This record gives sequence, C-alpha cells and structure tokens, in this order.
Amino acid sequence: MILHSHLDSWLETRRGLTDSLTGKSIGFVPTMGALHAGHVSLIERARRENDVVVLSIFVNPTQFDDPGDLAQYPKTLETDLEMARKAGCDHVIFPNETQMYPDGYRYRVSENELSKTLCGAHRPGHFDGVLTVVLKLFHIVQATRAYFGEKDFQQLELIRGMVKSFFLPVEIVPCAIVREGDGLAMSSRNTRLNHVDREHAPHFHQALSSATSAAEARRLLKEDGFDVDYVEDIAFGPSARRFGAVRMGAVRLIDNCEVQL
Ligand code: PAF
Repeated sequence: MILHSHLDSWLETRRGLTDSLTGKSIGFVPTMGALHAGHVSLIERARRENDVVVLSIFVNPTQFDDPGDLAQYPKTLETDLEMARKAGCDHVIFPNETQMYPDGYRYRVSENELSKTLCGAHRPGHFDGVLTVVLKLFHIVQATRAYFGEKDFQQLELIRGMVKSFFLPVEIVPCAIVREGDGLAMSSRNTRLNHVDREHAPHFHQALSSATSAAEARRLLKEDGFDVDYVEDIAFGPSARRFGAVRMGAVRLIDNCEVQL
C-alpha cells in the first residue's frame, strides 16, 4: 500500500495508472480518517469490485460549522493506515488543506434545496463544504466507482445529485449502515462519547426505528433525555426514510432508517 502525503505524488501515480491500467477500474473511498468497521466494509467492497482501491483521508475544514467540533475530530493516522492495508487498499491520499484548497475556498459547489433541510438546517454551509471537497476528490482520483455509507444518507443523496447535474463520470455505490452489536450506527464521533452516553446512545436508533411517526420518535427521544436537533420522515423515490440527529454533550449523532408512511 502506498501513502501519498502530497497530492502531486498521487497525481503522478494516477498518470502512470492511466498508461498502464487501460480498461481497469478504480474504486474510491473518501473519508476523514478515524476509520471504523463501517469504513472497512466500504474498502472491502471496493476491493471486491475494482482492480485498484484508493482511500482518501482528509479532515475537511470547510464542512465544519463548529470550530470546536473540527478541533475535537479524532485523528488516528497510524491505526487508519493499518486498517486500510488489511482491508486491501492500494493507495492512500493524505493531502493537507493548502493542497486541497489552493484557492482558499473562493470556488465552491452549492445546492439550494435538499442541502438546506435536515442536517443542513442545523449546520450552515456544511453541505457546500462536503460537495466542494467531494468534487475536488473525484477530479483528483478519477475513480470508476465511489463508495458512501447510508448513515450519511442526505450527503449520499446530494452527491448523487451533483454527479447527475455535472455529468461526472463516476458510479456512486451506496452501502448499508454498519451498526455496533447494540444497534448504534458506527461513526468516528462515537469514540468521543463518555461511558454513560455511550451506554445510552443505542436508544437513539431504537426510538427512530420503533416509533410509528416522526413526532412520536421525537417525543420518545426527548423523554429519554436526548437533546433533539430534528426527526423527520422524508419520501425518497419509492421508499421513505426517518432521519434523526441528536446531541449528547458536545457530540452530535445522526441516524436514519427505512419506514412505511
Ligand atoms: O462522510 C465523510 O466522511 C465526509 O463527509 C467526506 C465524504 C469524506 C467528505 O469530506
């Protein structure tokens, strides 16, 4: 596995791949590091479905609306590299902010409907930051397929929309949420929960999936002591999903599940 801590190193490799890998596929897994079993499942799937697997690790500052959250974001590079290697990754791109934002974020992608709802309503500018960095990464990697977890379903929908709107030549592969044994959706932020909150956190998914309406889930969560950002049911194509976000101290958790409306 090769670590590219400068973008130029990857871009040179990419030029080489273009020459030597005609007709071969590249699977891409974009991350902000602090890898967990959910990320590993994306890398393993990319490994099964492609000739070359590329992972990016970049804690993208433009998608953090809260500087405290950015400062606290877990950084575990050594463990991440070991996990990526074991999962079958070939290349890891680990750029810094200056390499990713040579324009100082003067140019950005924004979407005006879905990105203003759910998480977007509570985290101003968040999805502009996500879409901008993902567009940059897609151009840098030039992948055949890119893998995204359904825990960030709103992000996934927005990326699908961007790919369609800008005719980007990459296939978006949605991957099911990976959960801990007690039902908590895997997230890099889970490691920041204190012991008591970690014990309590699975009630979030239980309330979302067992309630008969979004209003009931919101009430259950509030009664259970959660600080609720939102719970909403939204139809996506033929199915409907219930989306929720709660805060436990300084940690914000999101989750979603399919529901019958
Ligand atoms: O889901 C994430 O980890 C991030 O939002 C992403 C897609 C890597 C962009 O920074």
